Amino acid sequence: MADTLTITDNRTGRTYELPVEHNAIRAKDLRKITTGPEDTGLTSYDASFTNTASCVSRITYIDGDRGILRYRGYPIEQLAEKSSYLEVAYLLLNGELPTEEQYRSWAWDITHHTFVHENIKKLMDTFHHDAHPMGIFVSTVAALSTFYPEARNIADPQLRRNQVFRLIAKVPTIAAFSYRHSIGMPYVYPNNDLSYAGNLLHMMFRTTEEPYRPNQILERALDLLFILHADHEQNCSTNAMRGVGSSHVDPFSCVAAASAALWGPLHGGANEEVLKMLAEIGSVDRVPAFIRRVKAGEVRLMGFGHRIYKSYDPRARIIKDMAHQVFQVTRPSPLLEVALELERIALQEDYFISRKLYPNVDFYSGLIYQAMRFPTDMFPVLFAIPRTVGWLAQWDEMLSDPEQKIARPRQIYLGAEAREYAPRRAPAGSGK
Ligand code: ACO
Repeated sequence: MADTLTITDNRTGRTYELPVEHNAIRAKDLRKITTGPEDTGLTSYDASFTNTASCVSRITYIDGDRGILRYRGYPIEQLAEKSSYLEVAYLLLNGELPTEEQYRSWAWDITHHTFVHENIKKLMDTFHHDAHPMGIFVSTVAALSTFYPEARNIADPQLRRNQVFRLIAKVPTIAAFSYRHSIGMPYVYPNNDLSYAGNLLHMMFRTTEEPYRPNQILERALDLLFILHADHEQNCSTNAMRGVGSSHVDPFSCVAAASAALWGPLHGGANEEVLKMLAEIGSVDRVPAFIRRVKAGEVRLMGFGHRIYKSYDPRARIIKDMAHQVFQVTRPSPLLEVALELERIALQEDYFISRKLYPNVDFYSGLIYQAMRFPTDMFPVLFAIPRTVGWLAQWDEMLSDPEQKIARPRQIYLGAEAREYAPRRAPAGSGK
């Protein structure tokens, strides 16, 4: 059996043989299928990239039908149980788990880049008091490019590496400062003795305690959520990271663009929407009526459904277990009961079964964040912090791939044919 695809063009009767590699054909090979010299060749139309690979990647593997997620080959369940966010970050960027020595040096580098320039603080001060923290986050990350102009030299691997440290180290600081700004509290500087997640809790919530010691279960829960959110192959924001990065702009601008993409309610903004939905439903007895509205197409069940996962999102399963642990040290959320009932009913209904709609990562994460006292508008920011490493790993991979060029999709033009410009005319009946 040959690894080829034979195509017969019924417009011309001609037959073509295209190579198949890794279960894919190269879209460019379609260009040789033409109807004549005037024809620039066949193209493939794939609105919203539902079946088009834009890159070769060795970072994250997802099997949506079987609910599998692996980083660099390691199952997410094992990493969630045994690893830490910083170790996973090293793995995603370098392809292998670190040795003890490599880990120590990596953690040192991250810990010693957590401070931001005092002018960054001044910049953040200029935002309106009720500015959305994600708006502040996106803008401040973009502004970092002006503080590190050498970051534009993306061809130098050492300089590239320096920006990676800076970004991973500084995003929690910017995130916490954006929150403190929004509630009018003084900024808390990083504490290098704490873990990555513990330091974020410290910068967010420290008031007068000296020293601040995060609750260990909450610190672990946050670290776990960071592991689960670290990468998810070619999703909307990663596609933005690669697309913007393909122009060879600096990585701060790329991460700002990816963060903006993440903010949308169909992507990283979904867990905020889940909480709004749960609050609107309010109590378990109102769940059946809400499900009826979903089935009638009036509303979407937020936190359900995924472009890739057509079975239970493996991250949702891990988060659901963690939610129970978190609620033992925080006040139990009344909305957890509503969420569990929604899931129970939805998983029995044909509407959801036939469309393969299952809880995704966002269905329970918002409840955990809320129990940890994070306000809902911080949820997308909490997603952007760990995803920064995924974006950077994908960006680095793209820049090292000789096949990658500036991203430039094609279009199918269906607009007006060429026509002559006509001078502006007075409206009919104006008498002019
Ligand atoms: N509630 C009700 N119906 C839904 C839902 C939902 N959450 N999701 C999809 N459907 C239905 C659609 O109405 C459609 O039905 P139809 O065939 O009768 O028209 C069918 O399922 C397929 O839906 P699509 O929109 O084509 O699926 P797509 O793959 O484009 O969308 C998406 C995926 C955007 C995640 C969608 O499921 C959704 O909007 N979910 C709610 C938002 C959400 O939770 N997003 C977080 C995703 S995870 C992440 O980004 C981290």
